[in-house]
Amino acid sequence: MKSKNLLFAAVIIAVIGFLFFLSSTARKPPLIPSDAIHKNLTGIRACAPCHGPGGSSPLKKEHPPKRHCFKCHKKA
Ligand code: HEC
Ligand code: HEC
Repeated sequence: MKSKNLLFAAVIIAVIGFLFFLSSTARKPPLIPSDAIHKNLTGIRACAPCHGPGGSSPLKKEHPPKRHCFKCHKKA
């Protein structure tokens, strides 16, 4: 009986460890740099000329849905 409980505890710990591993590898949105370019930008419309398609630093193809930049990207 006791060894069954130990096995049960070991399984629980393994599952929690696996979930923790998953959450730590989730991709986190990088901070908006606090440089001259980004300091005074407030509207998300301002992002498109550079980060939109054809801009100077376009978003990667696998960028998550980008409806509102500031929801995910905080200012550094
Ligand atoms: C005048 C052009 C320009 C505008 C406008 C602009 N950016 Fe940028 N942004 C850049 C450049 C250049 C970099 C640095 C590129 C790099 O490091 O790959 C950068 C970097 C970033 C990064 C960091 C990327 C990383 O990998 O760390 C984020 C986040 C970002 N910009 C968000 C925004 C948001 C949100 C807006 C609108 C409020 C915006 N930018 C407007 C040019 C611009
Ligand atoms: C749903 C959350 C979310 C929204 C909304 C969002 N981003 Fe991102 N962004 C991310 C994540 C997560 C990454 C990191 C992607 C990676 O590691 O590959 C990222 C990466 C970036 C980068 C670095 C280059 C790249 O393509 O990986 C830039 C620049 C950027 N975002 C700008 C923007 C701009 C501009 C907007 C608004 C038009 C925006 N983001 C909206 C989550 C978001």
